Amino acid sequence: MALAHGLKSIGVLGAGQMGLGIAFVSAVRAKVPVLLYDKSKDQVAKGLALMDKLLDKDVKKGALQSADAKEARERVTVVDSLTALRDVGMTVEAVSENLQLKQAIFSELAATLPPSAILATNTSSISVTKIAASTLQPGQSAASEEGKATASRVVGLHFFNPVPVMKLVELIPGLQTSSETLQTARSFALACGKEVTMSKDVPGFVSNALLMPFINEAIMCLEKGIATRDDIDKTLKLGMNHPMGPLQLADFIGLDTCLAIQQTLYQGTADSKYRPSVLLERMVDAQWLGKKNGKGFYDYPSA
Ligand code: CAA
Repeated sequence: MALAHGLKSIGVLGAGQMGLGIAFVSAVRAKVPVLLYDKSKDQVAKGLALMDKLLDKDVKKGALQSADAKEARERVTVVDSLTALRDVGMTVEAVSENLQLKQAIFSELAATLPPSAILATNTSSISVTKIAASTLQPGQSAASEEGKATASRVVGLHFFNPVPVMKLVELIPGLQTSSETLQTARSFALACGKEVTMSKDVPGFVSNALLMPFINEAIMCLEKGIATRDDIDKTLKLGMNHPMGPLQLADFIGLDTCLAIQQTLYQGTADSKYRPSVLLERMVDAQWLGKKNGKGFYDYPSA
């Protein structure tokens, strides 16, 4: 049965904190069957355990009937190849913030799914136009009817972490994105219970063109010894009413993701004001990636 957004099922690529969150709101709020793909079985197991925990919490709180939670959980099916996604109406890619990885995935998705299927990316900063161009198959011209059709179904659908809690989705059309694609993506985000803003396809869009320099500047304050970690975070929490300080937020997003976004801003604008902090680079060199692997600006012993 087609749902309000017109999608009978969707595919989610990546079962990390973003992908899992997107699968969760799709199954629970938009009530759409989800095929979840991740190349790591460990990541899938971790993701599903988190989904069970979130559903359980919502049932205990009375936010969800247990029968509804059971139905939502049953809407999520794990698949082990992209070929298994061939019949979905839309895919949402939420893998690492790496252009080459995304290009390889979009090329394969375009070759596997029919031209009617929408291919959304949850990229935080990478050009949607560039990702859309990677759907062109070898020898296919961007000016041909097939070339235009394949790229026109790609759209940026940027969720925020934690996805079940944050109310926003930022919609980003690439140069090639069709108005039908935008409309379906918007309806889907609304069905997930989100409010939608639209930004142009510039490095970082609106959200990360504002947030990442702020986080980067906080890291530079720490690097220069202007204040301690705790005082930097306290300043923003108590002085500006932010729910968490910028260093804690960086840990929460993932320091590798923060660095990748800051590098996209720096390279994409050639503006020195976006230079990533050396301390951020060194922390990623050290594999201190934040909350997800136990060490960032803070320690997370249970990660
Ligand atoms: N997944 C799902 N739900 C979560 C969660 C998670 N990882 N972490 C917390 N929650 C839920 C809790 O279960 C709780 O739900 P209920 O109200 O239903 O019980 C609710 O969030 C509040 O949690 P807590 O009471 O434990 O903690 P809190 O009040 O400090 O809120 C927070 C936690 C919502 C994360 C809050 O600190 C916050 O809003 N922080 C800022 C988050 C933010 O800025 N996110 C955007 C990051 S940028 C991004 O994602 C995009 C990008 O491109 C980089």
